[in-house]
Amino acid sequence: MKAKVCIISGTPGTGKTFLTKLISRKINTFCVFLNELIINEKHTLNYDNARETWVVNEKTLIPRLKEIIKLEKRSKNYELIIIEGHLSDLVPNKLIDYGIVLRCHPNVLKSRLEKRNYKERKIKENVQAEILGDCVSFLLEKKIIKTVMEIDTTNENFEEIAEDMVSIIKNDKGFEKYALGKIDWLEELFTNNHLDEFFE
Ligand SMILES: Nc1ncnc2c1ncn2[C@@H]1O[C@H](COP(=O)(O)OP(=O)(O)OP(=O)(O)O)[C@@H](O)[C@H]1O
Ligand SMILES: [Mg+2]
Repeated sequence: MKAKVCIISGTPGTGKTFLTKLISRKINTFCVFLNELIINEKHTLNYDNARETWVVNEKTLIPRLKEIIKLEKRSKNYELIIIEGHLSDLVPNKLIDYGIVLRCHPNVLKSRLEKRNYKERKIKENVQAEILGDCVSFLLEKKIIKTVMEIDTTNENFEEIAEDMVSIIKNDKGFEKYALGKIDWLEELFTNNHLDEFFE
């Protein structure tokens, strides 16, 4: 059987790497940790000091991703190929079977990122992106594929999510609870008058 391809996107700190590692312990998975691949193989242009991040060279990265997927599918060694990273939506649509966006409540995400000692500006930008649902929009713009899911990791129930993912992949059927559009931090913060705290 040819491996299914799953991309896991989401704002930094939502749990992409952790979830990927959990899933790979349950099902035979080839994992691409995109941030590592970008740095190790130098798919970078320059370092953006203000944003504390590398600018990615899509011209070399996208063909490399296509090549990896092709090779690992052909090898028939794996049931699943996961590409995890907030840039995983660079994988061409037709190669994707499942798209997952991990979400996390802004208060919790802020504290997760503070623990990483990120600069204030970087934390603010990432939390704002999460509130606005940027990663969901990017995935929606791609007009993919079979199954796109939005999964809340605020409560760190990663074990349960990993089990669900295995079941979704084995049965090739999404779960209603992970359907897109159920998560709206913007609405919640606005209703509770907390929006200003994040957009001063
Ligand atoms: N071993 C662990 N046990 C329990 N929770 C963990 C563990 N590792 C990570 N987490 C939780 O998952 C959160 C996010 O971790 P992770 O590094 O997977 O995020 P990420 O989405 O990959 O971020 P980035 O885009 O920066 O790589 C952590 O802040 C923590 O709350
Ligand atoms: Mg990560």
